[in-house]
Amino acid sequence: MKYWMGIAVICIMGVGMLNAELINDEKQPQKTVRILLGSTRQGRRSEKIAKAVYDVISKNQKAKVEFLDLKELALPLFDDPVPPFQRKTEPSVDPIVNKWSETIKATDALIILVPDYNQGYSAVLKNAIDLLFYEWSGKRIAFVGYGDAGNGGTSAVAQLREVLSAIGANLLVDQLLIPTVYQALTEEGKFINKEYEVLLGKMVDQLTG
Ligand SMILES: Cc1cc2nc3c(=O)[nH]c(=O)nc-3n(C[C@H](O)[C@H](O)[C@H](O)COP(=O)(O)O)c2cc1C
Repeated sequence: MKYWMGIAVICIMGVGMLNAELINDEKQPQKTVRILLGSTRQGRRSEKIAKAVYDVISKNQKAKVEFLDLKELALPLFDDPVPPFQRKTEPSVDPIVNKWSETIKATDALIILVPDYNQGYSAVLKNAIDLLFYEWSGKRIAFVGYGDAGNGGTSAVAQLREVLSAIGANLLVDQLLIPTVYQALTEEGKFINKEYEVLLGKMVDQLTG
């Protein structure tokens, strides 16, 4: 009799522990990870790369993945009379800039798609960064560089790292560089090189960890 009671107690405790684990898992909030498309030109490759990146990183249960498209946002060219670093609490004179500010504040982590334009990153990216200041502080950011040549946007990403670290962003060391980007994807829009997927998985683990 005592033996059966012991087993019953162990079973009840086990179910209790399992429930507690499930409840804890449910409680764990997802991190908002946004894929920022760093180009806006007609026929840009960033759209296809963004989708391929999305397909990989959205498998991570801890991440709520969304696109952040500079083309759709249509941010103005920097025109504020007061530089963002001088207005910590003051809003911008431009409501679109204020919306951009709110969006970045509400983003836990970013993966920036960085096109190589003449060995540097795109002007639209620099403009998007300069419109804000305090919002970048501590922001968790990872990079995916790409270009037509064989270096996959190495110097473009390096330059962007320099700028974002100067304003206090929290940059991941791991990065994905895609050389000869015009042949990086299958017809279905998946990465041909499966190592890219492994690296992206590792990057999103770090962004959400
Ligand atoms: C203005 C311009 C300059 C470029 N310079 C380089 C370069 O220096 N190195 C390189 O690898 N690719 C270069 N490329 C190729 C781009 O990296 C490639 O076309 C990429 O797809 C651009 O990103 P997007 O398609 O999202 O605009 C250049 C493309 C443009 C439009």
